Amino acid sequence: MTKKSAPSPAKPVFLDQKFWDNFAKNIWEKKPLVLKNVKSGLLELGNVEIFDLLVLYANQCRKLNDPTGFKFYIDGFKADAEDVLQVLPEKSDKSLLGYHARMKALFPDYCLVCDELLQVNLKKQHLLAEFTDELYRHVGFPNRFSEMGLYLGNYRKTPFGVHVDSCGVFSFPVVGTKRFRIWTSEYAKKNPALDRAFKYDKYKKDSLLLEVGPGDMTYWPSSAWHIAESDGSFSATWSLGVWVDHPHKEMVAQAFNSLLEQKLGPTGKTVTTPFKSLHSKAGEVTELPEAYKTSIQALQSLTAKELQETFLKSWMTHISLQGFKTIPHIAVKLSAKSRIQLRSDKSMILWQQGLTSKDRFFFSFGGALVESTKASGFLKLVKALNAGETCLISDFIKGATAKKDLSSLQALANAGAFV
Ligand SMILES: [Fe+2]
Repeated sequence: MTKKSAPSPAKPVFLDQKFWDNFAKNIWEKKPLVLKNVKSGLLELGNVEIFDLLVLYANQCRKLNDPTGFKFYIDGFKADAEDVLQVLPEKSDKSLLGYHARMKALFPDYCLVCDELLQVNLKKQHLLAEFTDELYRHVGFPNRFSEMGLYLGNYRKTPFGVHVDSCGVFSFPVVGTKRFRIWTSEYAKKNPALDRAFKYDKYKKDSLLLEVGPGDMTYWPSSAWHIAESDGSFSATWSLGVWVDHPHKEMVAQAFNSLLEQKLGPTGKTVTTPFKSLHSKAGEVTELPEAYKTSIQALQSLTAKELQETFLKSWMTHISLQGFKTIPHIAVKLSAKSRIQLRSDKSMILWQQGLTSKDRFFFSFGGALVESTKASGFLKLVKALNAGETCLISDFIKGATAKKDLSSLQALANAGAFV
C-alpha cells in the first residue's frame, strides 16, 4: 500500500509587476481569479491582529454609543443599531474563535460586517494602500473609491442572497475556508430568478465556485453575480470592493458644477424662470428667457485657464483621498505653537498654484481643499512637512494672514493630515 502524501502547498505567488501587468490586461473587469499562497503585505494582517482591531473599534463604538461601521445579521436579517452594540467583540473573548464561541451559543446563523476596521489603525492602513496603489497604477485611479470590509461569522449564505454590486471584489480569507459562487451577468440576465435567490440548486451547474483559505486571494469583476456559501463553520474574510460606477463624465460634471456655482452667480440660484412668451401660436419655441442669455454669456467668457484650474483642483481633491472613501483621522487641535508632522510620509499634502492668479495656492488632504493667498509661509510649511520635517507652525505662518492660514491648516488637520 502506498502512503498518500499530503498535497504540497501551492508555489507562492508574488504580486509583482509581471502579475499586475497580466492582471490589468487579462483579468480586471473581465474574469474571476483564484490565487493560492499569495505574498502581499495585506496578508500580514493575521487573526490575532484583526481581533485586536475589532475590539479597539468595538470599544470606540460602545463609548460613542454608535455602532456605525458595524452591521450584524441574524439568520439573514439585519439587526437594529442598538442591538448591534450588544453583540460586538469584547476583549474577554480573547480571540476571533472566542468571539465566535460566544456568538454561536446565541445565534445558529450570524454575520458581522465591519466596514471601517482599518480606520482605527494607521500603521496597518499602509498595507492596504500598498496593494491599492499598485492596482491603481495598472488599472487606473477609481473615480469613486475602494472600501475594505471584514466579514465574519458562521452564516451559510450571504445575507442578501445572490446579487451583483457595482464593484470589483478582492477577497482575502483570514480564518476558515471561503466559497464564492459566481455567475456571469449574461447568465443572470437570462435567469432573473437568480436575483436575491437563496435557493439556486438548478443554476449551480452553470456557476463557478471559487474556494480560498487563509493566505489566498480571489477576485471577481463588477459584472459577476455572486453569493458566499459555507457549511456553517466559522470564517473571517477581508473584502476589498473597488467601485466602478462613476464614469468620467460624472467627474467632469462634478467639477463643472463647482465652476458654474461661481460663474452663474445669483442667476444660477433662481428656482423659477421669468419669460415673455413660451411658444408661438403654432407651438414653435424660439425665445430663450433672459436667465439663459446671461448664462450663455458667462459660459462664453470661460477661459482655458479657468477650466484647467477647476479640473486640476477637482482632480487634486479627489486623489487626496488616495482612492478610499475616507482615511483614518486623528483629532489634532492646532495652535501657532504646535509642532506638527505628516501622519505618514506616504500621505503628502497636495498643492497647486492657481492658474487664473499666481497669488492663489490650493492645498488638499483627505478630500479637504483649502486656499491661501500669497502663500509663501504656508507653502514653505507644506513643502517642509512633505519633505518629512517636524515643523513649529509659528516659524512659517505669521503676519496678517496668520489667522486665516491657521484655520486652513486646522481644516487639513481635521481631515487627518497630521500627528
Ligand atoms: Fe457582494
